[in-house]
Amino acid sequence: MHNTITGFSKLSKSEKIDWIVNTHFSNTEHAKNIIKQYWNSDSKLQQLHDEFIENTITNYYLPFGVAPNFLINGKTFTIPMAIEESSVVAAASKAAKFWFNRGGFKAEVVSTKKVGQVHFNYSGKPETLRQFFETVKPKLISETESITKSMEKRGGGILDIELRDKTKDLERYYQLHVHFETKDAMGANFINSCLEQFAITLKREAENSLEGDLNIIMSILSNYVPECVVRAEVSCSVEKLTGNKGISPKEFAEKFIQAVRIAEVEPYRAVTHNKGIMNGIDAVVLATGNDFRAVEAGVHAYASRQGSYSSLTHAEVDNGIFKFWMEIPLALGTVGGLTSLHPLVKLALQLLGNPSAKELMEIVAVAGLAQNFAALRSLTTTGIQEGHMKMHLMNILNQLEATPHEKEVITTHFKTHTVSHSAVVEAIKELRAKA
Ligand code: MEV
Repeated sequence: MHNTITGFSKLSKSEKIDWIVNTHFSNTEHAKNIIKQYWNSDSKLQQLHDEFIENTITNYYLPFGVAPNFLINGKTFTIPMAIEESSVVAAASKAAKFWFNRGGFKAEVVSTKKVGQVHFNYSGKPETLRQFFETVKPKLISETESITKSMEKRGGGILDIELRDKTKDLERYYQLHVHFETKDAMGANFINSCLEQFAITLKREAENSLEGDLNIIMSILSNYVPECVVRAEVSCSVEKLTGNKGISPKEFAEKFIQAVRIAEVEPYRAVTHNKGIMNGIDAVVLATGNDFRAVEAGVHAYASRQGSYSSLTHAEVDNGIFKFWMEIPLALGTVGGLTSLHPLVKLALQLLGNPSAKELMEIVAVAGLAQNFAALRSLTTTGIQEGHMKMHLMNILNQLEATPHEKEVITTHFKTHTVSHSAVVEAIKELRAKA
């Protein structure tokens, strides 16, 4: 009961913090200190972050790392990644290096159409609605002119509006299914504004001249973007797949391809396989200020488009050439949203040479493919734990509050020993006993 409050959003930041610590924590000073520890000393920068969302009390840090040496379509990139999982940046860097000397990554945007829908009910005859739609369509377009003007200047806008009869799935249910081109913007605001205007026009015109009741249910973009797709690929002759701890290039190619095939047919494996891809994708999407939830939702829907959840990547050997590729839907922006607001996002985009949305789609897809390559390479050779635990070592040492000297000694020790939580505890105990 003591945890509920009305009018919380109207309190000042310090009043909010007082209420939180007083009602949820026994050690109020300790809680308050942690919250405040993450405030930025630059009050303008802090205010900027405070105003991104409602009820901000502090900042939540994630490491911002970089993976260098990515050769993409002949150009070299250092890719920014925001992620907490210890092995992701290391794995990306390893994969980048591996492919740097084998022709690098090729990436290409296949299509960039986005979709939004006005969902509505109609009680009359489908044919009456169809005729009405044809007469009202020019008005739907013309009444969005003030919204579409600047997007059209940039080469984007509304591509087409279609009336879809969905009454077989749900009684009285119809939709305006609309395609958009949003150029360098992710386009959510643009699309939603157009859709809400369509709904207003549709409703008004229906009241004036349509027989039967038309009721708008909702207007919203779709995060399913199977027509906003990018393809990323690597390839090299099988003999060049060297350096895979104890197995020959041919054996490596075979095991690798079988691992991909397993993910193509087995959903339990496919989910983990694709999760590894998203390790790379989300990290770059987040670093560049894009909406990772939208990307996640769209990607996983795409992974099930054949009716069963499957691998996003594919691999084959054709005429002695090993090929590994992925097609993935990505709705990304390099203008609008956080891209011009968040200083680190701006820096991330600068680091990438201020890419267009299409170029960013290519870079992000490559980060995903690289991540999957690194994961499968480890899984089919040494196993994943060797690399993971090495990277996790620092987390364990921090949990044990190791000093810089202890960290140095212990990391040197584990260069030649297998890392496990208990082995690290043992090693630090011994070291401390000696001291
Ligand atoms: C861990 O975050 C990701 C992996 O499990 C991906 C995979 O299994 O392919 C290593």
